[in-house]
Amino acid sequence: MKPMIVASTRPEVIKLSPVMRAFDKRAVGYIFVTTGQHYDDSLFGSFIKDLELRNPDYDIKVGSGSQAYQTSAAMVELEKLMIKEEPDVVIVQGDTNSVLSSALAAVKLHIPVAHVEAGLRSFDKIMPEEINRTVADHCSRVLFAPTQRSGLNLINEGIDPGDIHIVGNTIVDATLENLEIARKRLDQTGRGVGGFKYSKYLVLTLHRPENVDDPERLSGIIEAVSKLGELVVFPIHPRTRNMLEKLRLRPGKNILLRDPMGYLDFLMLLSMAEAVLTDSGGIQEEAVILNVPCITLRTTTERPETVEAGGNILAGVDPGDILERTWPVLNDRTLYYKMKGAGNPFGDGRSGERIADILLEMESRGELEMKSPDFTEGFLERRVIRAGRTLEGKTVGSTGLNVLKVIEDGKERFPFKDLRLKSGDILVITSTTRHRERL
Ligand code: UD1
Ligand code: UDP
Repeated sequence: MKPMIVASTRPEVIKLSPVMRAFDKRAVGYIFVTTGQHYDDSLFGSFIKDLELRNPDYDIKVGSGSQAYQTSAAMVELEKLMIKEEPDVVIVQGDTNSVLSSALAAVKLHIPVAHVEAGLRSFDKIMPEEINRTVADHCSRVLFAPTQRSGLNLINEGIDPGDIHIVGNTIVDATLENLEIARKRLDQTGRGVGGFKYSKYLVLTLHRPENVDDPERLSGIIEAVSKLGELVVFPIHPRTRNMLEKLRLRPGKNILLRDPMGYLDFLMLLSMAEAVLTDSGGIQEEAVILNVPCITLRTTTERPETVEAGGNILAGVDPGDILERTWPVLNDRTLYYKMKGAGNPFGDGRSGERIADILLEMESRGELEMKSPDFTEGFLERRVIRAGRTLEGKTVGSTGLNVLKVIEDGKERFPFKDLRLKSGDILVITSTTRHRERL
């Protein structure tokens, strides 16, 4: 198998590193491409070094620019590269413009796309990421959903569960493996995280355009965090730094501005923090994995599992709301320890291995290819029916009906292979014939 892995920003490098390692272990060579969306050492190169990855084979050097520029310029070059390299599968992760470019370029060349972290939805189309991940999912042949909920999001949009694999999130693999490395490095150097020492502090990160490109919103958030009074370490994304400078916004004295941190330093900083305030996607996940209470400075999240697990709260973006919702986390010890004790909903840290194995197995069975469906014997139908008797399996008996989703006592369930359906359960099914549907 000849995979092409496209990783172009810091979270993509982090979350695809377990997949790269799993391929290395299996002696599968892969082509590593970056579109060059993140180009500064502090957002890209240092992550390659910290994670001990090899340098990309190709850098498209698309750089910064508008949404349309970044997406289209990368797409044109990716298409050329894919034609030249003829990969068997293009692997992308997450929801950046580079992911959208890669998925569109590949699918139109009929190269199967494997989307890692498929099915996340904030249901907020103002976010560029919501558009990117939704389109990428619909271009994909293989969808690696981290949780059952993300799998159900995909099914609800019409994607066949046969194409969805619930594998956990590779962030767990990366966090667990690299935290150990980060701890050892800290022990050896004896210096504090990122070169300085703290006892009790909060961490702040901000980079979503909805928050930082809106002057009023950004100053409101900074005002609220300044009023918290606690020591806050703020490794600042260049997008945000540029905006603070442009607006001449001066954060309170309790906020320590730092350059973006290397991955290992940041993991240590986060793991030892009292709590984190963030609008990042990956940090919401890492916080719950590391048992650090998370306060999300947004009104939506595509990671509701973290909130349901009890480790994350949505504080909104209004200064009053932020203060009102953050105070209890910091001052009510019962709530604080409850948040700290929240379980990790993103799996066991073996997602990278699973992804590599599933792709290799599909390839060996000749399933890693794209072909048109054959509807000459019937139409594809999607219907909701009620099971009339106990049934087992995702493909129900000899009926040829594929179970897409089960609704049991009003709750949606993903149809795993060992599915057992009770009489009375509601099934959402597809069928390609018109006369087999009597259950
Ligand atoms: C991008 C992704 C976002 C992801 C984030 C990870 C999109 C739409 N956004 O946001 O989903 O969460 O990466 O961090 O794909 N800049 C530099 N140096 C760099 C790169 C960027 O200074 O190496 C500055 C430039 O001023 C640039 C700005 O940061 O205009 C924004 O960069 P961009 O890649 O467009 O978006 P991010 O905010 O990083
Ligand atoms: N991160 C880092 N240094 C920093 C800030 C974040 O290494 O100064 C890491 C963090 O551990 C997480 C990832 O970057 O894994 C999150 O990236 P970001 O918040 O930029 O993107 P998102 O996850 O929102 O797409």
